Amino acid sequence: MEVAQVLRMNGGMGETSYACNSTIQGKAISMTQPITEEAILHLCSTTLPKSLGFADLGCSSGPNTLVVVSHFINVVHQKCCQLGRSTPELNVFLNDLPGNDFNTIFRSLPDFYKKLMQGKGDDDDFGPCFICGVPGSFYGRLFASQSLHFIHSSYCLHWLSQVPGLPEINKGNIYLAKTSPPSVVKAYLEQFERDFSVFLGSRSEEVVPGGRMVLTLLGRRSEDPCSREGGYSWELLGQALNDLVSQGLIEEEKVNTFNMPIYAPSPREMKSVIEREGSFDIDRLEAFEINWKQEDNLGDNETNKLRDAQNIARYLRAVVEPLLANHFGEALMDKLFCRLREILADRMLKEDAKLVTVIVSLTRRKY
Ligand SMILES: C[S@@+](CC[C@H](N)C(=O)[O-])C[C@H]1O[C@@H](n2cnc3c(N)ncnc32)[C@H](O)[C@@H]1O
Repeated sequence: MEVAQVLRMNGGMGETSYACNSTIQGKAISMTQPITEEAILHLCSTTLPKSLGFADLGCSSGPNTLVVVSHFINVVHQKCCQLGRSTPELNVFLNDLPGNDFNTIFRSLPDFYKKLMQGKGDDDDFGPCFICGVPGSFYGRLFASQSLHFIHSSYCLHWLSQVPGLPEINKGNIYLAKTSPPSVVKAYLEQFERDFSVFLGSRSEEVVPGGRMVLTLLGRRSEDPCSREGGYSWELLGQALNDLVSQGLIEEEKVNTFNMPIYAPSPREMKSVIEREGSFDIDRLEAFEINWKQEDNLGDNETNKLRDAQNIARYLRAVVEPLLANHFGEALMDKLFCRLREILADRMLKEDAKLVTVIVSLTRRKY
């Protein structure tokens, strides 16, 4: 299955939309801002051409999309003010798969430009800034040669280009788990290695020598690809699907033939692909935890845990509903996510789940 044809986040601004259910990804963006800022400042101290190219890959549609863009622009602008020089012309490219809700982003741009100019409005040394959408898969070329200085991507690169061809059935699971056959584990790892290498190779053509790239993705710290760290969400979603099988609402065969096109790598697995591909130097490579709870400071009582379960079920629905609906049918989605919410509520009362996230900051090698 080609992921590019079926993957998209829930569009629009409704209750189940990604725009209204992306607080966790927003948390990741703000937690990684110091590393992103460090990379932008380093770039500005080594090169400040007349025109600066910035791309956010897998931008989706929602509040996070433009937060990333304004952070980049503000850091560059402040640095230029400090250096007493004009801000370069800014070319901002927002990339995602063709099914992404680009229209919602485009509609918000006039407001965004207005806010961006506030405080810089009378500043002749600022801008212009051009923002455009680039639909297409980042597992291939998207931009002209050496047209970019900075690339950012958050919570995207764990999505594979396709479900790996599995030599055996991954019975009862929809991702890697303790009961997955070794051949299935190997196929997943090899798919990730191929995809990530193609990604780096494509970007190496597009980024100028000395240009920077900051990538954040779901991952794991354990070296065991089947550890729960990397697959907790998919274990619970798999359980919800299996429960619907027990209720006679889905055929077992349907679940056995569904596998998530996702891989949560360890930092070591990423390092090994980056070094083998050879176009980028690693400046930082770290793993950290994000609490699933949308608000961390509301105490641990039962009501809060149930509310967290509801929020997490919505967050997962916003991300995977179109993909699941494509395989299992639209009609089952309410029942499935209702069951997932119940499972989450039960788990939240017993354990404190965290998402492991990996960030890597890279510099394009000079030949
Ligand atoms: C969870 S969203 C993250 C969106 C945003 N960066 C954020 O942090 O809120 C993941 C995005 O990656 C996009 N994506 C996945 N695979 C992709 C690919 N091969 N090429 C471009 N975008 C991709 C999805 O369509 C989705 O919009």
